[in-house]
Amino acid sequence: MDSKYSEITPEILALTDLCLKNSSIDAELYSKYKVNRGLRDVNGNGVLTGLTEISEIQSFQMNGEDKVPCEGRLFYRGVDIEDIVDGFIKEKRFGFEEVTYLLIFGKLPTDQQLADFSSLLAKYRTLPTSFVRDIIMKAPSSDMMNTLARSVLTLHAYDTKANDISIPNVLRQGLLLTAVFPLLSVYGYQAYKHYFAGDSLFIHTPRPELSTAENILYMLRPDCRYTELEARILDVALVLHAEHGGGNNSTFTTHVVSSSGTDTYSVVAASLGSLKGPKHGGANIKVVQMFDDLKKNVSDWTSEEQVSGYLRDLLNKKAFDKAGLIYGMGHAVYSLSDPRANIFKRFVQRLSEEKGRMEEFRLYSLVEKLAAEVIAEERKIYKGVSANIDFYSGFVYSMLDLPLELYTPIFAIARISGWSAHRIEELVNAGKIIRPAYKSVAPRKEYVAIKDR
Ligand SMILES: CC(C)(COP(=O)(O)OP(=O)(O)OC[C@H]1O[C@@H](n2cnc3c(N)ncnc32)[C@H](O)[C@@H]1OP(=O)(O)O)[C@@H](O)C(=O)NCCC(=O)NCCS
Repeated sequence: MDSKYSEITPEILALTDLCLKNSSIDAELYSKYKVNRGLRDVNGNGVLTGLTEISEIQSFQMNGEDKVPCEGRLFYRGVDIEDIVDGFIKEKRFGFEEVTYLLIFGKLPTDQQLADFSSLLAKYRTLPTSFVRDIIMKAPSSDMMNTLARSVLTLHAYDTKANDISIPNVLRQGLLLTAVFPLLSVYGYQAYKHYFAGDSLFIHTPRPELSTAENILYMLRPDCRYTELEARILDVALVLHAEHGGGNNSTFTTHVVSSSGTDTYSVVAASLGSLKGPKHGGANIKVVQMFDDLKKNVSDWTSEEQVSGYLRDLLNKKAFDKAGLIYGMGHAVYSLSDPRANIFKRFVQRLSEEKGRMEEFRLYSLVEKLAAEVIAEERKIYKGVSANIDFYSGFVYSMLDLPLELYTPIFAIARISGWSAHRIEELVNAGKIIRPAYKSVAPRKEYVAIKDR
């Protein structure tokens, strides 16, 4: 590998010093000019930047004049996520396609509409001729999110209406990407395993009669086999990750980039870049790595004292990545609970039983209980802290034998439906480029001729 793609030379270090010296802004100026850092107000609430009908997150209730924290609730197009999940599980259907229809078209599909929509996705679930050989197999990356983004950008070249942002065309592109994301992710992973680890290469063609969740497992496993429970739990994971309001980092990216009038492929590549971050979709990997570290450092997994001690070490930057965080706990919006984590937990217990991993399940439950107490003692918590969706998702994926490299792409496979709905909502309603303000706090200087500097 060419050293300029990895080596930090003394020249770069010297330039870094200069960069740092002239890039640091006095922290007090942010309060002086009342900057809403992170687009949040002083209480941590998001600044209102848009309206949406696609989903709603509830974490507070009004008690007279007072805003009081409540159990979290999530509504897709006004329908409670708990009822959606209960509904398709009771009726023994896979839910992701139904939820994608709901998010994009704004209503629950009838039997016939769902069948037609699933057939449309199946028809779109194919890549251009030789795309796997010419694009995915060439120069594979160890990061599947980058592979995914690269593939998305390259698909632009295969689309004769790539830059057309009329609604029918953007809808077609959104559905196409929703259909092919599982292929791009899984094949990207297979190429990586083949070229980086020397594993045998499997490229299984998806089957039109299978749901998105089933196809992921079908394409990933060398023998294409999976249990019904595995497919249903992965489907629930996709449903719970499909959408989370307009303000989450990657969906807001969708709005920002769409508002410039650019094409769908550029918008989705930008949103993928956002989702990859460990403060956003990348957190599920951190949770699993944190638990691996805990298992190595705590000898008795049932001891509240030992587990609390480790959690306190995490907060005091003495354990794991020394970031002072207990991953999978807390949320910018939810207070007493994240409904997605609660729904997930019910299925996790059944899967742990099937997989013989109840000891770990009990450890997760213990950490969930103790972490909330320890964080409340060690940090200033106004609104309550509870497990978020990432707390259990990594554990579920490990029980499904999904490789760590695919944890965040699974999130992307789900969230493309929310992004597609928001891109259409932005194009239909906005027409104004998103352009917030930045105040310059630099003093003016004279231009000095180069010989006099
Ligand atoms: C998601 C997260 C960034 C939200 O932070 P937030 O918006 O500041 O949330 P709160 O207002 O409830 O936090 C209050 C305080 O508790 C701290 N806190 C909250 N969750 C915490 C956690 N899991 N570990 C350590 N400290 C935490 C916050 O950093 C904040 O401290 P500060 O006042 O010193 O800045 C935060 O909970 C976190 O970092 N969690 C771990 C990472 C994670 O799981 N991310 C996935 C989210 S879906």
